[in-house]
Amino acid sequence: MYTFQSLTSSLSLVPPIPQKPNLNLHFPITSNPSFALKFPVQVCVGIRIIMDRLKAPARLMIVSDLDHTMVDHHDTENLSLLRFNSLWESNYRHDSLLVFSTGRSPTLYKELRKEKPMLTPDITIMSVGTEITYGNSMVPDNGWVEVLNKKWDRNVVKEEASKFSELKLQAETEQRPHKVSFYVEKDKAQAVTKALSEVYEKRRLDVKIIYSGGMDLDILPQGAGKGQALAYLLKKFKTEGSPPVNTLVCGDSGNDAELFSIPEVYGVMVSNAQEELLHWHAENAKGNTRIIHATERCAAGIIQAIGHFKLGPNLPPRDIADFSDYKLENLNPGHEVVKFFLFYEKWRRAEVENSAVYLASLKADCCPSGTFVHPSGVEKSLPECINGLRGSYGDKQGKQFRVWVDGVLATQVGSDTWLVKFDKWELSGEERHATKTTAVISSKVSDVSDGFTWIRVHQTWYKGYEGKDDTTWHF
Ligand code: GLC
Ligand code: MG
Repeated sequence: MYTFQSLTSSLSLVPPIPQKPNLNLHFPITSNPSFALKFPVQVCVGIRIIMDRLKAPARLMIVSDLDHTMVDHHDTENLSLLRFNSLWESNYRHDSLLVFSTGRSPTLYKELRKEKPMLTPDITIMSVGTEITYGNSMVPDNGWVEVLNKKWDRNVVKEEASKFSELKLQAETEQRPHKVSFYVEKDKAQAVTKALSEVYEKRRLDVKIIYSGGMDLDILPQGAGKGQALAYLLKKFKTEGSPPVNTLVCGDSGNDAELFSIPEVYGVMVSNAQEELLHWHAENAKGNTRIIHATERCAAGIIQAIGHFKLGPNLPPRDIADFSDYKLENLNPGHEVVKFFLFYEKWRRAEVENSAVYLASLKADCCPSGTFVHPSGVEKSLPECINGLRGSYGDKQGKQFRVWVDGVLATQVGSDTWLVKFDKWELSGEERHATKTTAVISSKVSDVSDGFTWIRVHQTWYKGYEGKDDTTWHF
């Protein structure tokens, strides 16, 4: 079974990513002189944006595939993804990096984001490692485009592939400048890949052919792929003197195999990994204790791996039934925000007791003169808004109702005060609403371990996700 097979002409300047799946687990990245030629290091606006935010090397960089890895298409409630989200925003967002690495084109990636409660990654790698963008506004890495342009002729790739009747062209959106994609039946994949490789070799084209998910066949420039894109990023961070302390790669299928070949990374193949990836692992990385095959599916497998490799906290706040019983270490503003909105979700789903004690303690966490600017523009008293929750206890019981926060970033604006910005999302039945939220919170009298006091919250509707009925949006 081919997980990926590469074909490199003798004239190539390309660093030797494994020529056959079973070669070179630790292919050289920094020590290979051709690598420097291949990946000219230039000031990259995107990397700078990210490093300005972090100010120190990332504590953890998670590089995760999306379909059937971060996103479980069999989990209609999206619970493992929501659990991961709560863990990331409360414990990692402020000092770590989230990287999504997907086979999807930008078009299909954006569709997935509309369907599933996904966080906003710091870096998005799309189209099987051929497109890299940074931040929320998805600033493209043009240096990577230049690297991939070398020894790549898309027209010849297409022309030769079109001669194979076993190959069915994928949708137009999935044909990208450095990726030509087909469907091919599982039992024909190996023979077609071999024949195609020979044709391209004859035409002196330097391509990589990757078979994934038991159906997809991608043809990319030899220097592309999820692994090479990650190597390129790591090299950039190293050049800036800021490589991540730990990196965890996460995947389930053939196009993820390369990720596990990058030196020094930890890796998790989720429990539901495809046969082609497991086969690659058995042939190439069996003795590597830095790679595990999780017993949990998708995002739950990622959470499991964080614990297994001791990369940091791995108890998602969403798993904590009662925060009052729970003394947390490392309290931070992100944790406070996650906790508040989890409580809010559980209150409306009737998953906490309808107790005056809860509301009283929540009120005690609000400054008596605190204000809340509702996205409608109406300003209210914060403690009164908490009182107002009483009437909506359990109004979403038995219904689909989920709340999550994304991109929680806190800036310390005083000795004990933080300005916290984040997006707050609400899924209610089929509808999704969101606000951009800014909150001012301060640590309680003694120190942060006593928790925070909410002083001011200000929300504005997220364009395209405005709520229709102002009365049902409480926070
Ligand atoms: C995604 C892409 C598809 C690609 C596949 C495997 O499904 O949409 O074009 O072939 O990933 O990489
Ligand atoms: Mg996948």
